[in-house]
Amino acid sequence: MSADDKKEIEKLRQEIRQHDILYYVEDRPKISDREYDRLMQKLIDWEKEHPGEIPADSPTQRVGGKVSERFAAIAHKTAMLSLDNTYNLDEFRDFHSRVVKGLNKGEPEESQVAENEIEYVVELKIDGLGVNLTYENGLFVQGATRGDGVTGEDITANLRTIRSIPLNVPTAKEDFNFFEVRGEVYLDRKAFLKINQERKAEGLAEFANPRNAAAGTLRLLDPAITAKRPLDIFVYSVGFMDRMPFKTHFEAMQKLKSLGFRVNPENFLCRNFEETFQLIESWREKKETLPYEMDGLVVKVNDLGYQKKLASTARHPRWAVAYKYEAEQVVTEVEDIICQVGRTGSITPVALLRPVLVSGSTVSRATLHNEDEIKRKDVRVGDTVVIEKAGEVIPKVVRVANEAGKSRGQPFKMPENCPECETELFRPEGEVAWRCVNWACPAQMKERLLHFASRKAMDIDHLGPAVLDQLVDGGKVRHFSDLYILKMEDLVGLERLAEKSAQNLIDSIEKSKSAGLTRLLHALGIRHVGQRAGSILAQNFHSIDKLQKASFEDLEQVNEIGPIMAESLRAFFDQEVNQQEIDHLREQGVVLVEESKETGNRLEGKQFVLTGTLKDFSRDQAKEKILSLGGRVTSSVSTKTDYVVAGADPGSKRDKALKLGVEILDEEKFKALLAG
Ligand code: IVH
Repeated sequence: MSADDKKEIEKLRQEIRQHDILYYVEDRPKISDREYDRLMQKLIDWEKEHPGEIPADSPTQRVGGKVSERFAAIAHKTAMLSLDNTYNLDEFRDFHSRVVKGLNKGEPEESQVAENEIEYVVELKIDGLGVNLTYENGLFVQGATRGDGVTGEDITANLRTIRSIPLNVPTAKEDFNFFEVRGEVYLDRKAFLKINQERKAEGLAEFANPRNAAAGTLRLLDPAITAKRPLDIFVYSVGFMDRMPFKTHFEAMQKLKSLGFRVNPENFLCRNFEETFQLIESWREKKETLPYEMDGLVVKVNDLGYQKKLASTARHPRWAVAYKYEAEQVVTEVEDIICQVGRTGSITPVALLRPVLVSGSTVSRATLHNEDEIKRKDVRVGDTVVIEKAGEVIPKVVRVANEAGKSRGQPFKMPENCPECETELFRPEGEVAWRCVNWACPAQMKERLLHFASRKAMDIDHLGPAVLDQLVDGGKVRHFSDLYILKMEDLVGLERLAEKSAQNLIDSIEKSKSAGLTRLLHALGIRHVGQRAGSILAQNFHSIDKLQKASFEDLEQVNEIGPIMAESLRAFFDQEVNQQEIDHLREQGVVLVEESKETGNRLEGKQFVLTGTLKDFSRDQAKEKILSLGGRVTSSVSTKTDYVVAGADPGSKRDKALKLGVEILDEEKFKALLAG
């Protein structure tokens, strides 16, 4: 071949490479598929005429590899670490604190990094397979799986079939001769469904998820089959580089992008912790709209100098962390199954567990919900189980995960009698829970009293379960009103209650007498009557006497009080024990009235959503203020929402409000609205 021919053919190859980048990486083709095929055919014909001279980086050589028997092992130049996980704001804040601490360790005062000055890059954690791509003099020479992080497998031939992996990056030579790029190979949802449809038609086992399908495809021994499946890649970091000309991770990613690598367009540089967390929250719902699956986010310290200083543990970098939206799951053992009696007498089976750490706290019990659930999951004492906990939620048993062949105990049977008072249990038709119908059941009594004393109800400090147990078991307290006749001598001598705390408890009980009707109605624990209903009833009836006299119809006429609540209120006030109890409370000086608030129902009919942290109110306080002015508080933003009150770190609810055009109040505006 003449020198001119050689030049010409190389020009054609370069032209096709550019079209590959436009089509596979940037998703903006400049020519039609037909034109592209024509160029490719021209190259194929040309190369056929000169068989000895086809370079490995020619666009025709993507499916060049032979079928192999197995993959060779490859030791990674630098370990491919995995990431530590976080599941909520607290855990993520802990990560940030460790970063700040790590960076400031041993630094003099003047060069300390301020907490709100650390930049983070937030990236999608693509759910696929990590790979390492090695380039020498601009040529793609080797591709490996992550393997165990130290040693992977040589899957170069299969990776070459991925059109968005450049086989030659000529311009890179100007900056570095040898470099590694790391990324995640994946299949999008559509491709996954299609592969499974085909497998089903052929009578083959379907892949459980896109990640497994991608893994299976990457490890096929015949690259010609791999080439038929639309694997793709997002690159997410630089591995080894013989010269490192970048100061930040974000800069390095932009360079890779300009070299023709496929970098995820959703990667985002955040200036500080607040921005980072806001961005994280905004992905919670958005993630479903992606054409591929993501397994949370990855947050990385942007400054490469900082990354170096923070370094890594044996397994994880200290400068990066994954953020996952789903609940964390761990495995443990069921030591016993007990039944707990709730405040309304409902029986909840609870698994007592070998204690394990989940989402940052030690868990030793998890709910099994009810009889049907426990039967469905067939959980037995001695079983190995998967449990999960999401944020504040009570931990739950997800499923049994016994090793094959493990011998098991007997299937669980619901008790026939109340574990506390022996009363025969009863399961009302259409309900899932068994109930103890004995109003005087000590377990129910304790739960009712705990609820009565809780912060959102009568707010009695120092009356925890340990003290209550002793008071109920010792026969000193059976009814709410009994609390108000307690004297110091009833309390001294109780375990875990010092004299000072006893006095505090007495003071706290005294103070609760003037909590007001709204709180009292909530505290009484009438079925279906919560904080909001308590407030509505107090605003409408002003005294418990009037409320007690209200008929079902009177009650039902009140805005927002439906027939179920009306019936429940009537049932409560019709019981003689309850009437007596109210009389006793009155005798003890508990306030049973509520003046009509001067401010009236200024926020009547207004719906609020609270998000973020307010400086001068807790969530509960803000909620109470709104309720007391006739407004209501809901948890999610919709077109019905009138105001979103956004404190610090407001999260996705604020974004949604912006989208729906709902008015957003900062703390100052919120205060102004409350003040009228
Ligand atoms: S950074 C040391 N960035 O998640 C830094 N990893 O558990 C570790 N992954 O094996 C990798 N998307 O295969 C990083 N944007 C991303 C990622 C990502 C997916 C995978 C990767 C890694 C695993 C870490």
